[in-house]
Amino acid sequence: SNILVDVQKANDKDNTSIALITLNRPKALNALNDALFGDLLHATQLLDKDKDVRCIVLTGSTKAFAAGADISEMKDKTYEECMAVDMFAEWQQISKLKTPIVAAVAGFCLGGGCELAMMCDMIVCSKSAKFGQPEINLGVIAGAGGTQRLTKRIGKAKSMYMNLTGEFINAEEAFVSGLVAKVFDNETLVEEALKIAKNIAAKGALSVQAAKEAVNAAEDLPLQEGLRLERRLFHALFATDDQKEGMAAFLEKRPASFK
Ligand code: CAA
Repeated sequence: SNILVDVQKANDKDNTSIALITLNRPKALNALNDALFGDLLHATQLLDKDKDVRCIVLTGSTKAFAAGADISEMKDKTYEECMAVDMFAEWQQISKLKTPIVAAVAGFCLGGGCELAMMCDMIVCSKSAKFGQPEINLGVIAGAGGTQRLTKRIGKAKSMYMNLTGEFINAEEAFVSGLVAKVFDNETLVEEALKIAKNIAAKGALSVQAAKEAVNAAEDLPLQEGLRLERRLFHALFATDDQKEGMAAFLEKRPASFK
């Protein structure tokens, strides 16, 4: 199987759960071919429909999160074929899920792999991580966000450097650049990512969805539009039990218990 899906209970108190998806094409360093990406999309969309699943962690192997789109599958394609299926357009569906998705990156995270990680809501990595957009070495350019999301995340200077030279950046550089939220030891990466997922799972589902939507909108919207969206989502949360419970719990000096 191209991916492994493991749904785990988020805690002992209720039915909430978190899901760990592991990319599993080790012989090709998790190169993203159509079959693998199809399986990944299918699995994430199913999990997204399950109200109990509150966070997804996406990881690869210790050697590679993913070494990019599958070059052997692409190499003989014609321009017409690329256009006909709008190659990589469908990949963007990963960024449209309601459930937060955390990429836990170890080893190579290159080309489409780096782009997939950036489609997730948060990237954490281990010290072994190497991020890059080496498509330039193949006579092409990034095709799934490597010139766009990366530039918005780390700025033009570093993005241009990576996209024009194909050089990789390590975990420390990725952290300093703001591409990743946390760097963990190689041995504890997945465990730490699952802890983050459980932490998110304990919050109110609607406020998590709203926070995800609002933060992601910051990459797309002009400031005033984004601020308006943020306020409207903030206002809407006053229609939820979780807002009443969260604020009452604070004032009663007890932990909140969200539904
Ligand atoms: N596609 C297909 N196969 C790949 C692959 C890829 N992106 N990356 C690695 N593999 C395969 C290799 O062909 C090799 O297969 P064989 O054992 O059958 O020969 C196997 O995985 C192991 O790879 P290496 O022997 O090369 O391992 P290494 O440790 O020497 O090097 C590496 C690791 C630096 C990551 C190197 O594999 C590499 O440079 N990979 C390609 C990276 C790349 O160019 N990615 C961009 C792809 S294009 C893209 O992603 C477009 C887009 O924007 C969506």
